[in-house]
Amino acid sequence: MSPGGSETGNSEENQSFHGYRIIHYDTVASTNDIAKEIAKKNREEKIVVLAEKQTSGKGRLGRRWISPKGGVWLSLILRPKLSLEDASKLTFIMSLSVAETIRNMFGLTAEVKWPNDILIKNRKICGILAEANSEDQTLESIVVGVGINANVDLGAFPASLRSGLTSLRRELGHEIKRRDLVQRLLQTFERNYQRMQRGLWKALLQKWKSQAPFLGRQVQVKIFNEIFSGVAHDIGEDGALIVKLESGKLKRVVAGDMTLL
Ligand code: BTN
Repeated sequence: MSPGGSETGNSEENQSFHGYRIIHYDTVASTNDIAKEIAKKNREEKIVVLAEKQTSGKGRLGRRWISPKGGVWLSLILRPKLSLEDASKLTFIMSLSVAETIRNMFGLTAEVKWPNDILIKNRKICGILAEANSEDQTLESIVVGVGINANVDLGAFPASLRSGLTSLRRELGHEIKRRDLVQRLLQTFERNYQRMQRGLWKALLQKWKSQAPFLGRQVQVKIFNEIFSGVAHDIGEDGALIVKLESGKLKRVVAGDMTLL
């Protein structure tokens, strides 16, 4: 992919795939931040901010997201007719779409992990960061950020992180065409997004769960300073993780970190 952008943040609006207008940058701090700025300024939706490299990529819970050249770092601006509480459904729709795209394009067993990870052989290949913008409790827009370790050199990551990560290049033994991946992902996402808007959320969640091998397994959950373990019992219709504690009680987790034990 060759961008029209520069390190100063200039960009060239050069492509459109499956109804999504792509704004392609070379280097940015964070595609999510640029997308949020754009969303504030105009009412358009289905814009994709794509960058070759991010200098301050953002992960969940205020974490840093290392984004060297070779990855797919993009953020979608959407304006779905959803309540604020339902905005998190977009994370599921996107993680399902990433997993489906990787499976269909490369035949790799990509799996989802609550709330927003896509794994291959238990190593993280992709993370998603959705950020909602609301006014008076109404969802105005949502930016769905996607980071896929496509052709990245894993040597660029700190050694402490490396064992938990993988890339498509590592799994396949060769580089992939990132442009094709972006096109297929947008196509798959659009199909799933339309289904969600047609009221097929339950079926989509069911599909997500069918690619979620952590369900039924022993997990540890961290919510701020609270840590507990149990069996990952189910995902509620609102996207909450339902953990079965040793006592048999079910505990709902809306946001937090989950690790397989
Ligand atoms: C996570 O797993 O913690 C979420 C990572 C999300 C990373 C992507 S990369 C593109 C977009 N821009 C960002 O700054 N973050 C998201």
